Amino acid sequence: MPRRQFDCLVLGAGGAGLRAALQLADGDAHVAVVSKVFPTRSHTVAAQGGVNAALGNVLPDSWHWHMYDTVKGGDYLGDQDAIEYLCRAASRLVIELEHYGVPFSRIDDGRIYQRKFGGQSQNFGGEQAARTCAAADRTGHAILHALYQQNIRAKTHFFDEFFAIDLLRDADGSTLGALVLEIETGDLFVIESKTTLIATGGAGRMYRTSTNALINTGDGLAIALRAGLPLQDMEFIQFHPTGLAGLGVLITEGARGEGGYLVNGRGERFMEHYAPHARDLASRDVVSRAIHMEVSEGRGCGPRGDYVELKLDHLGDDTIRKRLPGIRDTVLRFAHIDPARTPIPVYPTAHYIMGGIPTNRFGQVVAPERHGPEAPQPGLYAVGECACVSVHGANRLGGNSLLDIIVFGRAAGNHILAALKEQRYHKPLPGEAVERAQERVRRWERPGEESVEALGAELRRVMERYCGVFRTQDVLDEGVRRVREIRERLAYAGLRDHSRVFNTARIEALELENLVEVALATVVSAAARHESRGAHSRVDHPERDDRHWLKHTLYLRAGETIDYKPVRMKPLTVDSFPPIARIY
Ligand code: SIN
Repeated sequence: MPRRQFDCLVLGAGGAGLRAALQLADGDAHVAVVSKVFPTRSHTVAAQGGVNAALGNVLPDSWHWHMYDTVKGGDYLGDQDAIEYLCRAASRLVIELEHYGVPFSRIDDGRIYQRKFGGQSQNFGGEQAARTCAAADRTGHAILHALYQQNIRAKTHFFDEFFAIDLLRDADGSTLGALVLEIETGDLFVIESKTTLIATGGAGRMYRTSTNALINTGDGLAIALRAGLPLQDMEFIQFHPTGLAGLGVLITEGARGEGGYLVNGRGERFMEHYAPHARDLASRDVVSRAIHMEVSEGRGCGPRGDYVELKLDHLGDDTIRKRLPGIRDTVLRFAHIDPARTPIPVYPTAHYIMGGIPTNRFGQVVAPERHGPEAPQPGLYAVGECACVSVHGANRLGGNSLLDIIVFGRAAGNHILAALKEQRYHKPLPGEAVERAQERVRRWERPGEESVEALGAELRRVMERYCGVFRTQDVLDEGVRRVREIRERLAYAGLRDHSRVFNTARIEALELENLVEVALATVVSAAARHESRGAHSRVDHPERDDRHWLKHTLYLRAGETIDYKPVRMKPLTVDSFPPIARIY
């Protein structure tokens, strides 16, 4: 089997992978990026509203407020040392993005335009901060393209349209690279690396309606699970309040940041009842629950009363074209309405996973050592949505995911550069590791009765119904049973097409295996947490319970076991935020 050797292998070419790769390539490391799609088609391209940094260009702001809002937004489950690092680094790294060529929108004096976003403090004379730096409503697109161009300049080596099968590890648990599949030829290929960074993004495609691209199938998360590593806080799934009703296509929070607001079927601005201060710009979990309540209590819009409306018409055509051109295009194309005239039908849609592969703030993957304390896993890093640092806690604030990828992508790159100085040679790669990984692909050469497509559709229905915005024990337990059943049936699935060249059916089968593992981690973790916190809303345990549940969940694939670890609060200082009631 062909082999290549690199100092670092990055799995995934979204913003997190590209920011890390850039740091490495600029530091003279020999770096490979493997991506199942052409890099600029990675899901970062879809992030719309912006990236948070307390630049204070439009209204006064400071990183302390950003930290406070992030801790509170995450319902006190975030690790406060990592959150402090995120918020302190933000301004410098957003300016760095500007210097990389990101075409941010501007205010009149030429500085970066910043808009209001959900969960930002109202502490400056009662006015809400405006912290989200925007390139119109295509900020992720702009960042991804700038980072890709910088990587081309820095001579990062790209393996475009290669699918990562599994990590290659030795008996000591050192990660030595990965087995990948070239989609164009169907050939397997070993990439040996001194360090490996997983940056494969989220798993929103385990839900029927989602803002996520079809590629978001939890590949890196499942790779970590199969390597025997835990996933942390997987029960916390963010539902974005404003997906285009019925389709799930993202309508950015920036639309409300620009002054848009939600109304129910009676024309009422219902957010006033749920979040009297922040109203439409409360945190996402609060707004999603409010929409769900309005619809389930019979106050929805439309012939079936199954959505609410987002009003933008009062903003005027000029503002919409200038600040929200992508939203205008999306709504015209998918709903055939002009948002300058007609309100947009919206409903919560799966958007982001707060949980992921546990890491420290240098991006090192950490896991408990045989029931001992957790320790960094040799040679293995994770960054971005697939990682859990944890800065988002139980609910991420809008605009903090683009920030997460640039801050921790860079931090991981720096840590890897230092580690490479200590490790000049590749460790020997055991043949059994390659054999084991190969078996994952060979399994799909055997015939089977079950259909991958049907099982995928079933999984998405089950997750929507049994692990949605509101949860109860009975519903979650049934969800666990049904996802387990899908996993069992998947073992009997087969492909009709065994060709090698661009066999997308085979890729979809491998992706579904990944999604099922991640879905099981999600629903098992959710069934185990008996409280409501952030995006995890238990009707049967409606209160947050800090005494028993101020802790991170760890899920292991072997035996579907659950363990817990403490949240890192800071010692009491001016920059620490002990849990208090969360009111918007
Ligand atoms: C949005 O623009 O609403 C999505 C961006 C994010 O999730 O941070």
